[in-house]
Amino acid sequence: MKLFEIDAEKCQRDGICVAECPLRLIELKPEDTVPAAISEADELCIRCGHCVAVCPTGALSHKNLSPEACPPVRKELALGPEQTKHFLRSRRSIRTYKKAPVDMETIKRVIDIARFAPSGHNSQPVRWLVVQESKDVLQMAGMVIDWMRYVIKAHPAMAQTLRMDRAITAWEAGKDPICRSAPHLVVAYGDKANMMAPTACVIALTYLELAAQAFGLGTCWAGYFNAAASSWPPLQSTLSLPENHAGYGAMMMGYPKFAYHRLPERKEVDISWR
Ligand SMILES: Cc1cc2nc3c(=O)[nH]c(=O)nc-3n(C[C@H](O)[C@H](O)[C@H](O)COP(=O)(O)O)c2cc1C
Repeated sequence: MKLFEIDAEKCQRDGICVAECPLRLIELKPEDTVPAAISEADELCIRCGHCVAVCPTGALSHKNLSPEACPPVRKELALGPEQTKHFLRSRRSIRTYKKAPVDMETIKRVIDIARFAPSGHNSQPVRWLVVQESKDVLQMAGMVIDWMRYVIKAHPAMAQTLRMDRAITAWEAGKDPICRSAPHLVVAYGDKANMMAPTACVIALTYLELAAQAFGLGTCWAGYFNAAASSWPPLQSTLSLPENHAGYGAMMMGYPKFAYHRLPERKEVDISWR
């Protein structure tokens, strides 16, 4: 089967697919009626779907991505700059959660949006682990505290910088400063051999955090948890990720207990123009 088919009646020979293919796999020679794939195209194609998505007449059908499988861009849903700024600015790291769990279907819908995050070479290397039970989240938070006790002894300067002593004191007073008693924890992980995976996981979690907001969900990056998960064997064996895979980011998730009413200020941007 050819990498893509072009409907000659719909094709306008506008050269847009040729210009937009990120790997320059499409050519349109003056003598050809429609664009064609270069000889190594099937092997080199990253299946990003840009050729299908950019064709204004739906003339190009990729063997893995037909125009019918790629819904049209709905201009009426586009956000303006003011809405975009407000949406991004009103996202908050949530640290107090309702006890009520989030149903797994909702979490699935949020993750289903996060899968549209960009990834190097469109490799889409992100895999997800959802810790569903709050008792399991709390148990893992306890393991992070154990890791902190170890770090205080082994790497006191690092422990001091991250104020791990305070986290331990809070834990001993019955609080959870690690996962904030969130009912769920979402971990993005990938194959250690895939050099795109760490960045892709972080971007996907960023998408997740933003998408969660639209479902009334609160999230917070679990930075301590993630640091412990990268090196603390008891936590690693509890997480039990597939062999040769590593977690590259984790996020608490649940319904926020409190609403935020104002948008806090941040540092002025620091831009150098060349
Ligand atoms: C990589 C990363 C790790 C973080 N880890 C934690 C964490 O372990 N616990 C926590 O309460 N907040 C954590 N945060 C949240 C930050 O403290 C928060 O983003 C910052 O204070 C700004 O607040 P905002 O997200 O509401 O704008 C983390 C944020 C990032 C980006």
